[in-house]
Amino acid sequence: MPDIRPDDESYWSTIRAQYTRSPDFINLENGYFGMPADPVRAALRRYQDEVDRENAFFLRTRWPARLARVKALLAGFTGVAPDELLITRSAVESMNILLQGYPFEAGDAILMARHDYDSSHDIVRMLAERKGLTVVQVDVPYDLEDEDAIAALYADAITPRTRVLLLTHLVHRTGRIMPVARLAALARAHGIDPIVDGAHALAQIEFTIPQLGTQFAAFNLHKWVGAPLGTGLLYIARERIADIAPLYGDVTFARTDIDKLGHVGTVPPAPIMAIEDALAFHAAMGGKAKEARLRWLARRWMDQVRDLPGVRVFTPRDPNLHGALGAFGIAGIPAAEVVRRLMEEHRIFTVIRKFGGTEIVRVTPHLYNGPEDLDALAAAIRQWAPPR
Ligand SMILES: Cc1ncc(COP(=O)(O)O)c(C=O)c1O
Repeated sequence: MPDIRPDDESYWSTIRAQYTRSPDFINLENGYFGMPADPVRAALRRYQDEVDRENAFFLRTRWPARLARVKALLAGFTGVAPDELLITRSAVESMNILLQGYPFEAGDAILMARHDYDSSHDIVRMLAERKGLTVVQVDVPYDLEDEDAIAALYADAITPRTRVLLLTHLVHRTGRIMPVARLAALARAHGIDPIVDGAHALAQIEFTIPQLGTQFAAFNLHKWVGAPLGTGLLYIARERIADIAPLYGDVTFARTDIDKLGHVGTVPPAPIMAIEDALAFHAAMGGKAKEARLRWLARRWMDQVRDLPGVRVFTPRDPNLHGALGAFGIAGIPAAEVVRRLMEEHRIFTVIRKFGGTEIVRVTPHLYNGPEDLDALAAAIRQWAPPR
């Protein structure tokens, strides 16, 4: 793989040319789902035609081999075995399967953090009520970069009843990359199961599942892998599959077979088939070069505004601690007002997220954005920053 520099516009323009974006606005809200590249969109349409044309013949005769091929490719990509992976419809579905199927007993505690994903909070709170569990929540300040201090916050919140530690790899609110392997090791040292939410991490940053040091993880394929909407991934280490009870009724598969957890009925195969094309697109540039480019795009706006008076960037200054995603606020202007004016006055689309009680503006460039998009954002922020 040639060494592709993150600021090599002649290379990245060839990647940008493979996305068809809306001409109507600058989309800097690519955190919800990742626009698939044109070759993936074309493949999706082809596969949908193929499936519709062949109908049940496709599903009954050709689908099992196609699914096995996609799973084998995902296994190669994530560094685990195909029989430890289940393709789901989203990270939320993966997380529901894991948490709702986990063998909790009344009185067990789940440890999570304020910055974890809202739907994960919902699942945990629902289960707590239903099963008589205790929820303990740590509060990691957005600007706490010291890993020892972060580990200490989690360690202090562990009790003898803690059964599961929910960990978010890349925080969707601020873009912060958490020391997830270290925290997973901390959990295991206390006999606690870490469950990792890697929804935003997979293919935004480079890693393999074994590096996380967890036996349970939930991911999206429709964010940074670039597969079509409606694709997620669930990982369970082979020796732990028997411990998770099916959320969707199933008595046909062995307790040790991960497919027992995927009995959701007839789902569209075309998006799953196009995972193959998304992985090929990702591999052609390489995960490392992609991560570096995304980080470079994020730095492009953050570095211009971080030290302006009244502007607060909620994403770490250390480039190793973030990827594409970042967030900011401007003193004296509510986040909702910033988001509205960015769209109305500059045709820049962003979104509000909450960090604790504070509303912040989240900015997420994608590979199809160029430096001019981030410069336009920085210019708008500069114009609104209060004078010194
Ligand atoms: C940290 C995190 N977990 C889970 C999800 C859920 O993703 P989905 O709704 O695609 O399942 C998101 C989505 O933004 C997320 O940021």
